[in-house]
Amino acid sequence: MEGEVSKAQTTARGQWTSNLGFVLAATGSAIGLGNLWKFPFITWDNRGGAFVLVYLICIIAVGLPIMMAEILIGRKTQKSAVGAMKEAFGPRWGLVGAIGVLAGFVILSYYAVIAGWSLYYFGKALGWSASGFPSGLRLGDEFTSFAARGGLQVILSGLFMAATMSVVWSGIKGGIERTARILLPILFGILVLLFLSALSMEGSSEALAFIFRPNFSSLGPDGILEALGHAFFTLSLGMGAMITYGSYVAKKQSIVKASGMIVLLDTLIALFATVIMFSVIFSVPGMEEQVGGSTVGMLFISLPELFYTTVPFGRVLAPAFYILVAFAALTSTISLLEVVAAYVIDEHGVERKKATLMTGGAIFLVTVMCAMSFGGWGAASNFELFEGKTGVFGTLDHLASNWLLPVGGFLITLATGWFMTREDSESELAAGGTPSWYKYGAWRFFIRYVAPVSVGAILVAVGFFGVDFS
Ligand code: PFF
Repeated sequence: MEGEVSKAQTTARGQWTSNLGFVLAATGSAIGLGNLWKFPFITWDNRGGAFVLVYLICIIAVGLPIMMAEILIGRKTQKSAVGAMKEAFGPRWGLVGAIGVLAGFVILSYYAVIAGWSLYYFGKALGWSASGFPSGLRLGDEFTSFAARGGLQVILSGLFMAATMSVVWSGIKGGIERTARILLPILFGILVLLFLSALSMEGSSEALAFIFRPNFSSLGPDGILEALGHAFFTLSLGMGAMITYGSYVAKKQSIVKASGMIVLLDTLIALFATVIMFSVIFSVPGMEEQVGGSTVGMLFISLPELFYTTVPFGRVLAPAFYILVAFAALTSTISLLEVVAAYVIDEHGVERKKATLMTGGAIFLVTVMCAMSFGGWGAASNFELFEGKTGVFGTLDHLASNWLLPVGGFLITLATGWFMTREDSESELAAGGTPSWYKYGAWRFFIRYVAPVSVGAILVAVGFFGVDFS
């Protein structure tokens, strides 16, 4: 054990090869199921325009400053979540990092299940494209019986975990950065093709109006908080993912420029995805009423058939769409596992490969329960900790989105805004150069006042008014 500790400690810490490498890896973390799966649905649920506008404000006023804060903490200390919080703010703050590690563990365990669904639908779409979409197929029933096949669910999420582990196993440059450099351009390319096809559809102008024309009468206070909560999830904030990725950033790179880029790309992708899905939905008479039900409904029940009946070049684009979802999910699951693995590596001196196996294996045990939550196994499906949230899957989603991310985010903003000296944060953010839109004073105002008050409001809403963000 002694030997192992010193070996791990003397191994040089990984670093991104360039600013672009970092931006791609962090953007990969940010872009995920949150953009392709959750954002279109909550935009739909909140009736569009006004919600999108509020969301954009939350991204700029709260998301961007916290993104900068997290990367700053990581780069300054060159440590992952727990070690970084301890070193920057004192031993007790290590707990905030620990909440982040727990959040990474919890989110990955259920995220891998949905990621597995995208693999399955990719396979299905390949089959449909090759031999035709069967008429009369009831995709809703099909989905329900698919989700209840416990064994298949475990295999699919297991495949996804294996892919995630193989990347984290290979380290920062050779694993995480390399994967992002390959997958992100493919992801952007597919999205552009889908976007062009969507714009050529009849429903696209109605979709654009729905998304970009604000109608404030349809947005309540819950919608505003939901936008804020989602800003956290989509930017991978509040759980030390960006602290951990920031710890591999070299001093000569600019935190501010990178943060601006990551936030911009994440937002663009979410908007693109929403335009694509709504253009399809608005192009089919009567579809609007049918979609309503759930996020799952939109992605895995309504869309597959529409690809084959309505979307131009749908036979090519359907499999492309599901592989896009899988790639986006993979670059996110990598960062979730990295937060947990890097903690074990940095704080317990375990070597990377061993740490990957240990943490990935432990998380997979919980993934199995999440995978069995849709009828695969009675105990996992009926498990109830929070009222109205049945199943291990729903419980963990609720725990992470309502509690772990907002609490972590709140404490990270407080720490950076109030417990780090002005000199420290100013010089760290200035290192590597800053873009023209950046003003240190503005960042400081947002991180000290705007961000903690806004995130505090989420906690008050969850704690006292029972609002649900999962
Ligand atoms: N940002 C990811 C998404 O939008 O799907 C989810 C996520 C990944 C959250 C990594 C947190 C994280 F650390």
